[in-house]
Amino acid sequence: MAYWQSAAEDAAMQEEHGFIWDAMLETVDIDLAGRRVLDAGCNRGGFLRLLCARAGIAAGWGYDPAPGAIADARRLAGDLPLTFDATETVPSHWGGFDASFSHEVLYLIHDLGAHAAAIHRALVPGGAYYAVMGVHAGSPGMADWHAENVERLHLPPLYTLDEVIAAFIGAGFEVAASRLRMGFVPVSPHAPSFPSSLEYYYEHKVMLRLARPR
Ligand SMILES: C[S@@+](CC[C@H](N)C(=O)[O-])C[C@H]1O[C@@H](n2cnc3c(N)ncnc32)[C@H](O)[C@@H]1O
Repeated sequence: MAYWQSAAEDAAMQEEHGFIWDAMLETVDIDLAGRRVLDAGCNRGGFLRLLCARAGIAAGWGYDPAPGAIADARRLAGDLPLTFDATETVPSHWGGFDASFSHEVLYLIHDLGAHAAAIHRALVPGGAYYAVMGVHAGSPGMADWHAENVERLHLPPLYTLDEVIAAFIGAGFEVAASRLRMGFVPVSPHAPSFPSSLEYYYEHKVMLRLARPR
């Protein structure tokens, strides 16, 4: 299992993801106020803290296999109603979630069917998993990035969106997809080429809505 490289890199990554989390909040089609929310691959918990501050969730749960990131998530949560666990899948005693999220986690998961089944079990009937993914085979340049990083990050094969969707349909989800309601895109080390980064964030980084039927 390849963990994220360092706490310092985690911190930088989390600050860089703020504009994407804003776009995710703009795109979801349910009112999150008062809901129980899961974040799969939550890293240091920044998205869940944003959901507390901006969406008024009742409580949030986040898991991530990187223990250092989870230690930071617990410290940074302070008194917020957030619970974290350092695991590779949804802890078996967690459940009853109205909504679940992940941002750029599906491309790291080797057994998508098992992940889909775990999230399905953890959602209430009628609940939805909003999974954001730009690292897929249809994103320009991603095959080269994947080839360069497959061993270092212990990556599974680069999935097509169709392969991801098939895994979730197989677990009993109803699937829909949306572009993110993206605003300004900062220029950063993750997005060195401005025109191509706009195309990536506007066209190729998509939000899947994976709904557990009632
Ligand atoms: C690109 S980071 C995204 C982190 C966070 N979602 C965000 O928006 O900043 C990918 C995260 O997925 C975690 N991860 C790796 N394998 C995982 C797995 N099998 N299940 C859940 N999370 C995983 C990593 O430890 C890392 O924190």
